[in-house]
Order: sequence, then structure tokens, then C-alpha cells
Amino acid sequence: MITPRLKAVINNVKHKKIADIGTDHAYIPIFLTEKNLADRVIATDINEGPLNIARDNIRRKGLENKIETRLGGGLSVLRAGEADDIIIAGMGGILISGIIENDIDTAKRSRLVLQPMNAQYELRKYLMSHGFKITKEDLAVEGFKVYNIITAERGEMQPFETDFEYQIPKYLAEHKYFKDLCRKKRREFTKVIKGLENSSGDHTEKLEKYRYWKGELDKYEG
Ligand SMILES: C[S@@+](CC[C@H](N)C(=O)[O-])C[C@H]1O[C@@H](n2cnc3c(N)ncnc32)[C@H](O)[C@@H]1O
Repeated sequence: MITPRLKAVINNVKHKKIADIGTDHAYIPIFLTEKNLADRVIATDINEGPLNIARDNIRRKGLENKIETRLGGGLSVLRAGEADDIIIAGMGGILISGIIENDIDTAKRSRLVLQPMNAQYELRKYLMSHGFKITKEDLAVEGFKVYNIITAERGEMQPFETDFEYQIPKYLAEHKYFKDLCRKKRREFTKVIKGLENSSGDHTEKLEKYRYWKGELDKYEG
């Protein structure tokens, strides 16, 4: 089933030789090949269960000649240069950073289409300090949920001017879902601040950071 989140990931794919890491049901590879948006997709997963579901779905659609499945963790199942676009979607930002870090040479040979479910701040920081430039960001909305799609490739990028920009980069201000993103971040910052204020222990540093982000968001939204 192609949801707005998955559709936005697909819209940001550029090449025809793709790898989909953590494919789960193989919805992305099936859509890409059925619509002739990709010639060949390598669909991978670290777990046998999801990969078996992917295999069944691919077989049912008769797409075995276009989609190859591989069992294994991260980019270890790819040879460098085998895919022009590598998709890593539906996982946490820290996990995505780890997957890239474990096989950084392979990651740097391809364009990356990343869809972190959280820790976008950490993922942006990781990419920009490890020889990647963010070439584009997109947003998708499903009800109250807002999803980021980060496209990156090997290259240099000036660090953002403020720490807050790693939370909400300025270039997203033109996006049609920018206000939805700000609302989501406001909910997130408020929830964390309330939680920290109501819990015992010394959370001064974290609290200060979240209050700073929330203050910057106030300025951003005017
Ligand atoms: C929540 S699903 C996301 C599925 C799909 N990519 C999407 O965006 O809807 C995450 C999938 O990633 C797989 N996964 C988790 N860690 C992985 C890793 N290190 N390498 C490959 N697959 C992984 C899980 O087994 C699971 O099938």
C-alpha cells in the first residue's frame, strides 16, 4: 500500500538502479518497478520474516526478474556502485546513521534517499560532519504525522549557522508542509520540556537545549 510517506520517498528517487534497505513488505520496490520508475531494485532486510513477506508480494506481482531480495544488515549486502540510489526509509535517524557509518564507502558511491522516523537532528549532523551534503529535503503529511525525506550524497556542505537549523533547516520554510512541521516540532519540544520539568534528577543541560529550540521556533513562526 503506497501511503503519502512512501509516495514522497518514491518521488525523491532519481535513478533507475535502486537498493531499498529494510524493505519490509517491498512496497517501494514493487511500486517503482510496476510504474517503470526503476529498471532493477535490490530489496534487502535484516530479518527473514519481513523478507519472506516481501518475496511473496514480489512473486504475486510477477516482478522477480526486476526485484532481487537479499537477507542481511544495512549496506553490507551491497557491492559499492551496485545501486545509484539507496533508499533507507522507516527507521530511526540514529539507526540510519549507523547503517551509513558501517559501510561509508558504499554509501558514498550512491545517492541516498533517507526517511528517518525520528532523530532527524542527529542524522543531519552526522551527514554534514562525515563528508555528505544534503541536496534536498522533502516533507510528507499523514494526519498529525509529518515525515522528513532527506536526500544526500558525497560532498561538502557549510555547517548550519545555528544549532536550531539542524532541527528545522531554513530551506524547508518554502515547503507547503512547513507549518505542519513546525506544529509537530512544537508538540515534541513541549512534551519533552514538560517531561523533564516533572521528573527527578538533574536534566539542566537537556532542558536548556530544548528550551532554546522552542524559543527559536517561536521566533521562526513569528
Ligand atoms: C518499519 S520497517 C520500514 C519498512 C519500509 N522501509 C518503510 O519505509 O515502510 C523497518 C524494516 O527495516 C528492517 N531493518 C531494521 N534494521 C535493519 C538493518 N540494519 N538493515 C536492514 N534492514 C533493517 C526491519 O526488519 C524492518 O523490516
